[in-house]
Amino acid sequence: MTTKKFKPRVFSGMQATGNLHLGNYLGALKRWVEMQATHECLYCIVDMHAITTWQDPKELRESIRSVTAAYVAAGLDPSKSAIFNQSQVPEHAELAWVLNCVARLGWLNRMTQFKEKAGKDRENASVGLYDYPILMAADILAYHATHVPVGDDQKQHLELTRDIAQKFNNDYAESMRALGFEDGFFPLPEPVIEGPATRVMSLRDGTKKMSKSDASDLSRINMIDDADTIAKKIQKAKTDPEPLPTEEAGLNNRPEADNLVGIYAALADASKGKVLQEFGGGQFSTFKKALAEIAVTKIGPVNSEMRRLLADPEEIDRILGEGARRAREIAAPIMSDVKDIVGFLRTS
Ligand code: TYM
Repeated sequence: MTTKKFKPRVFSGMQATGNLHLGNYLGALKRWVEMQATHECLYCIVDMHAITTWQDPKELRESIRSVTAAYVAAGLDPSKSAIFNQSQVPEHAELAWVLNCVARLGWLNRMTQFKEKAGKDRENASVGLYDYPILMAADILAYHATHVPVGDDQKQHLELTRDIAQKFNNDYAESMRALGFEDGFFPLPEPVIEGPATRVMSLRDGTKKMSKSDASDLSRINMIDDADTIAKKIQKAKTDPEPLPTEEAGLNNRPEADNLVGIYAALADASKGKVLQEFGGGQFSTFKKALAEIAVTKIGPVNSEMRRLLADPEEIDRILGEGARRAREIAAPIMSDVKDIVGFLRTS
């Protein structure tokens, strides 16, 4: 089957749990902002994914608003991009059910994120946590999204999304043809995993991903940290005793150095090589001062704009409502086609 040309469309999302950190910002959000200039974009706050582990309802509401504020403060423009929370667009859950019936159990059993998140007590994990990647595939495919900018940790989920899209296109090829969808119904979405910070590591251990679930707050820079806290965390960041290398190859087997240089490069919109041209051969103490300075300069304004937006929750809710309305305009007809393709009868 030849694949038809789909209109380029970007979709991505973040979980509404707790605070965003520098990994979320550099690995995803900052790049989402850039893609607005060239693509039609939908950016979601995935509250249905959030409840795959229990969330206090009051805190969940606050988290949804806080992530929305971070999106807008970082530069997502609600007049350009649809910004919305997942649960306000019922097509995500509806499509997820159909895709549940397309995906194979063996595929889900390979998902490393489930293994990490469920840990040893797997029997006690929610069914939702196991099914999480299917809902993620539905998020993307409900819009016929063609590009998905994410950090490196989402790569496996995107491969699964492509497998599900492909299997749906094959399983229902005849029905699709009969209904006039000649060249495949779902696009196979491209992961966009680019730049020097696709995997930002913990400041305490360069072999562990920066994550909101790490017990040590010193391991991450939160988007709501103030300037002093950011500077303190960078100053305390783990390093090794060697000076910085002058070339990128010298970062091999030096995970902490590699991470800090990557963070600097992403904040400065430069390559790691460029950063090392400036700081290579020097001590970490000098480099850390410069890193703290650029981190505060770049994150500080996002931080204060976030606080300003959060003071007006009604405006945030308005943005989410408008975003959901626009998202539904795209997802509803696609879901109707899915129902026709699989053979559901629609009588009204
Ligand atoms: P989540 O909420 O864990 O993370 C949101 C985004 O931040 C990226 N990220 C990182 N990037 C670099 N370094 C890190 N240390 C780091 N930590 C997180 C993630 O890769 C992600 O891009 N399953 C997704 C949410 C989701 C989604 C979607 C994404 C649901 N549906 C559809 C894309 C398309 C997640 O849990 O991301």
